[in-house]
Amino acid sequence: MKICLIGLGYVGLPLAAEFGRLYETIGFDINQKRIDELQNGYDRTLELTSERLKAADKLEFTTRLEDIRSANVYIISVPTPIDSHKNPDLTPLIKASETVGKVLSKGDIVVYESTVYPGCTEEECVPILEKCSGLTFNEDFYCGYSPERINPGDKEHTVSQIRKITSGSSPEAAAKIDDLYKSVIVAGTFKASSIKVAEAAKAIENSQRDVNIAFMNELALIFGRLGIDTNEVLEAAGTKWNFLPFRPGLVGGHCIGVDPYYLTYKAESVGYHPQVILSGRRINDGMGAYVALQTIKLLIKKGSSVRGAKALILGVTFKENCPDIRNSRVIDIIRELEEFGVAISVFDPWADIEEAKREYGAIKIYNRVNGAGVLTNENKETAGGGRYNGEKFDALVVAVAHNEFKSFNPRSFVTENGAIYDVKGLYDRSQVDGRL
Ligand SMILES: NC(=O)c1ccc[n+]([C@@H]2O[C@H](COP(=O)([O-])OP(=O)(O)OC[C@H]3O[C@@H](n4cnc5c(N)ncnc54)[C@H](O)[C@@H]3O)[C@@H](O)[C@H]2O)c1
Repeated sequence: MKICLIGLGYVGLPLAAEFGRLYETIGFDINQKRIDELQNGYDRTLELTSERLKAADKLEFTTRLEDIRSANVYIISVPTPIDSHKNPDLTPLIKASETVGKVLSKGDIVVYESTVYPGCTEEECVPILEKCSGLTFNEDFYCGYSPERINPGDKEHTVSQIRKITSGSSPEAAAKIDDLYKSVIVAGTFKASSIKVAEAAKAIENSQRDVNIAFMNELALIFGRLGIDTNEVLEAAGTKWNFLPFRPGLVGGHCIGVDPYYLTYKAESVGYHPQVILSGRRINDGMGAYVALQTIKLLIKKGSSVRGAKALILGVTFKENCPDIRNSRVIDIIRELEEFGVAISVFDPWADIEEAKREYGAIKIYNRVNGAGVLTNENKETAGGGRYNGEKFDALVVAVAHNEFKSFNPRSFVTENGAIYDVKGLYDRSQVDGRL
């Protein structure tokens, strides 16, 4: 058994490291910089330590097609984003399928891990594999789908500790794929009845979270108007045994805020126009603008002039304790406040400053606090990282609940009349002026 992982991001790398302890494994990525860093034992996603990378002593990294020809199981974990019209953008998946098609041999297995809509593997990817390899599906080669459930930044639910769904294009392939995953996934596997079922299961897992968070956000919109603290309501309601513990907030990243569009795209292609899923999406996508508006109201209430006010945003990554800034909805708060003429600074110990600037343009961003008794992890500091110099702001928005922020006194960042809006309910009600 020789395994090749295609796409070494948040999903592909941890899995490659698990397989690489037991089997000869090759990690393939088109990003040369990523490969160079991994060869030097550094994972910039901070999911794996250099010790864990070293423990995978049968794992090698490459960008060269020729190096992966000898594999017989290919596992594809490339991004599946949406385009500007919120339709699935299958370009990376198609490109990766072409790559594998070029090196596919008789008897090989190709497993897709990328999140897709039901039917995508067999309808979109398999024809490309067949075309590029000249081989016949389910005769010469087999496919599978095994969705990933990891949660970046979560060091408890790591890949081997999460039960994994597997599936295959024939009963024999399904059994083989299931056995392979079982050998590294400590939490065990669940063999789904078909590839489509496994694809659909993944799509609904994230859609369910999205809809549940949307419900909480809708409650926050209602209670905000009623002058009731949502966190206090949820704490009270949470004492009922079957009340689900979701919280309101921004929904960013490339899973919960993106995957539902894969499902709705497929639903629409068969003539069904989803209502619950899409209305949840609309509510969640509007939360950044709502937070900005609440902050503006607080500024006015506190007697500050809005135009030219200075605001500090705590956190710019898409979630807590994770360096990923892609599709972070914090940017919606920033852009909306900027429209009102507010000058924005961001402080985030996890974000890579250069990446944040590249992704979101010129934002004044700090990633270290001086003298506030916190931070510094060498890996999180980047060249050009600004140092917070004690400047006081008219407004503070707590956008991401990084662990480092918990020990802050939020008042220390603002002027005497400063307004504090806490999106995450990180601080006690008495320390802030408004919460979601
Ligand atoms: N990040 C998560 O929490 C998570 C969880 C479950 C599922 N997923 C799904 O897993 C998939 C991968 O997500 P990710 O977060 O690991 O993405 P990522 O952006 O972190 O990593 C993807 C990697 O694939 C590489 N890549 C892109 N195109 C390639 C190609 N044609 N050939 C080889 N390499 C290529 C990129 O250079 C990158 O290193 C997506 O479908 C995502 O929805 C992600």
